[in-house]
Amino acid sequence: MNNFHMKYTSFAAITLIVISVSFCCFAYRPQPAAAPGTGGLKDYYKNYFPIGVAVSARALRTDEAGLLISQFNSLTPENAMKMSVIHPREQWYNWKDADSIAAFARRNGMKLRGHTLVWHRQAPEWIFKDASGQQVSKEVLLQRLKDHITTVVKRYKGVVYAWDVANEVISDQRDEMYRNSPWYQICGEEFIEKAFQWAHEADPEALLFYNDYNEINPVKRKKIMQLLTGLIAKGVPVHGIGLQGHWAINEPSKEQLEKTFEDFLTLNLKLQVTELDISVYAKEHEMRERQPGDSAFAFTAAREQRQIEQFRMCFDVFRKYSNALTGVTFWNISDRYSWLDNFPVRGRKDYPLLFDKDLQPKKAFWSVVRF
Ligand code: GLA
Repeated sequence: MNNFHMKYTSFAAITLIVISVSFCCFAYRPQPAAAPGTGGLKDYYKNYFPIGVAVSARALRTDEAGLLISQFNSLTPENAMKMSVIHPREQWYNWKDADSIAAFARRNGMKLRGHTLVWHRQAPEWIFKDASGQQVSKEVLLQRLKDHITTVVKRYKGVVYAWDVANEVISDQRDEMYRNSPWYQICGEEFIEKAFQWAHEADPEALLFYNDYNEINPVKRKKIMQLLTGLIAKGVPVHGIGLQGHWAINEPSKEQLEKTFEDFLTLNLKLQVTELDISVYAKEHEMRERQPGDSAFAFTAAREQRQIEQFRMCFDVFRKYSNALTGVTFWNISDRYSWLDNFPVRGRKDYPLLFDKDLQPKKAFWSVVRF
């Protein structure tokens, strides 16, 4: 080969390499996350647990519906089954939104979690009062609760497979066992076991969960375990513990999360993460005092990175405990809207989910599906 040929061959080879590399770079696109039947969260996790999401009836009529179908295989009504929404007056149930979510789930072959039968928040005023505005007796309140639970659970029998029966009845005060809610003030702790019993009578097939937050705190966790151990000992039909999972970039640690799972596993109940989101703001008290426009509230690259790592860690742990973990549900669909936009600071935008406001997968999405 003469000099000219050598030069020509190397030039051609280099050109070819440059062209191939550029082609690869430009042709590379992150995988579409929404192709039906493939590449959705639910598909990556099909051998582990269903992946759910909390929805409003309105979301089902928007462009979010496509994302719901391609990514998730379980739904939870965000508000539509809460007592003040579904039963706003004693003689009137408002089924519209809950029915449309149930119909959507059925139509699309998705599971449906019912949320929630008894809770101190979003409870209608009328339930605690008689016609003259006085507080009702324990007997009256328990009867009302029974009627409510029986009616709602029966209506969704066969479509709701699991109910969050009691939500947040344990106190956050160190030395107090039960939350001092109107339910507790009027009925004592009895309303809790009754709620499980009545839900079971209304639908013996449904799985019944106790749902709460901050179980990573050992003091609160111990109280939750005490409640559940007592219920199990009395033969109350309780089948699972819901860990809400409203977490942040700085908590829980892997150790806290694993310890929580390990402790709960000793109860031989099913576990579900029922309301997952990871705030990009560290859980710190001074955050409450800041104003919405404060620069401390920006979604910086550093916070994005911590969120990616936190999501990755959580799902690593979830997969590790997938024998007991029977569902993971996100609380809201995308960063377009989250309840955290108004909590703990009204008007402070948060970005706690796996899809951005254009419904595109964030980097955090890839961190939970590449394993
Ligand atoms: C609790 C409830 C949910 C929801 C969230 C935040 O976790 O269980 O239904 O209301 O608070 O909004």
